[in-house]
Amino acid sequence: MKAVVYQGPRDVTVANVPDPKIKAPTDAIVRITTTNICGSDLHMYEGRSTVERGKVLGHENMGIVEEVGSGVSRVKPGDRVSVPFNIACGTCRNCVEGWTSFCLRTNPIDGVDGAAYGYADMGPYDGGQAELLRVPYADFNLLELPPGDAHEHDFTMLSDIFPTGWHGTELAGMRPGDRVAVFGAGPVGLMAAHSAMIRGASEVFVVDKERDRLDLAGKIGATPVDFSKGDPVEQILDVTDGRGADCGVEAVGYQAHDPSGQEHPELVLDNLVRSVRSTGGIGVVGVYVPQDPGAATDAAKHGRVAFDYGTFFSKGQQMGTGQCPVMRYNRHLRDLIITGRASPSFLVSHELPLDQAPDGYRHFDDRDAGWTKVLLHP
Ligand SMILES: NC(=O)c1ccc[n+]([C@@H]2O[C@H](COP(=O)([O-])OP(=O)(O)OC[C@H]3O[C@@H](n4cnc5c(N)ncnc54)[C@H](O)[C@@H]3O)[C@@H](O)[C@H]2O)c1
Ligand SMILES: [Zn+2]
Ligand SMILES: [Zn+2]
Repeated sequence: MKAVVYQGPRDVTVANVPDPKIKAPTDAIVRITTTNICGSDLHMYEGRSTVERGKVLGHENMGIVEEVGSGVSRVKPGDRVSVPFNIACGTCRNCVEGWTSFCLRTNPIDGVDGAAYGYADMGPYDGGQAELLRVPYADFNLLELPPGDAHEHDFTMLSDIFPTGWHGTELAGMRPGDRVAVFGAGPVGLMAAHSAMIRGASEVFVVDKERDRLDLAGKIGATPVDFSKGDPVEQILDVTDGRGADCGVEAVGYQAHDPSGQEHPELVLDNLVRSVRSTGGIGVVGVYVPQDPGAATDAAKHGRVAFDYGTFFSKGQQMGTGQCPVMRYNRHLRDLIITGRASPSFLVSHELPLDQAPDGYRHFDDRDAGWTKVLLHP
């Protein structure tokens, strides 16, 4: 089958690889109909991870079940499904408590809890930017979708970024009526803003410097804040009578930069601490890593990010972090899509055949104007 394969920094190709096979009775094989390029793929694409050459990428997958193992009884061939990016066993302590993003059994790497498809350090699993994908523990992991092809562009956001954006607001302790500050207007930040609106925010600020992304934030009713035009915290304080937001979401991650492009991994955390009121919550879904050999400082190379913990403590704020347990939200979000209350497809900018994935990666990585979310159809 054809698949998107990592060859080295800024080098992905579409290559022929062996078809995946059922390896355990609990596996299923899914024929991919839509798979997305994610901001998380860019950490690998840019050579800022330990991903090995030859890895099939892709963790935002949906499709039709092609084949199931003898131990799979709920899911059947022909079912249309969304595949959460987390690979979870369903029976360990973390899975049972709803933390499928920290499954204790699916990642064989010592000291790392949680597994994913096609991702650095997340276990030996191929990704779904391919014609076919092997899904472990299929009965537990797969989310059933209505048959047909309705809402394909919305449903394809259920494998990662819509639940992840929602999780950001949940980790922030968001309540109806809150003013919410979202840093990052990439796909994850825009999904956090969409989630905050659905959850009854009174106002949502979205901070970025990319004009096209800020325009999309404006289109869904959020207030765009351009950090290249001045301190984004001052801009938020100015319009909230100096009070700040009630809570905030970090949707940028360790490659946070200033308007000139210089990286400062603590910058967005500092800005959230400053722009969220005392006792407010901060949900960090942007990724930070324990080892980043490409970082600008020695400390950051070892995951030590010196944000303003003193002010964070003095303001009595709370912070939640980590990969999103997709399954905790995806059923509810699917139903919001079906009833028309959510339409996460507003950010889709490009649909490409799998063969054009290398182009898609290049444009999305360059944050080229108009390339907000790329869908691939194998
Ligand atoms: N926790 C999870 O489960 C999870 C899931 C998916 C993605 N992620 C992570 O979320 C982050 C965002 O993902 P994405 O797909 O939206 O990525 P993206 O790279 O497309 O978007 C990041 C945005 O942040 C902006 N930005 C950079 N510096 C900034 C600053 N100082 N202030 C405000 N904005 C700034 C960039 O201009 C860009 O638009 C990434 O770190 C990704 O790995 C986490
Ligand atoms: Zn993703
Ligand atoms: Zn588990």
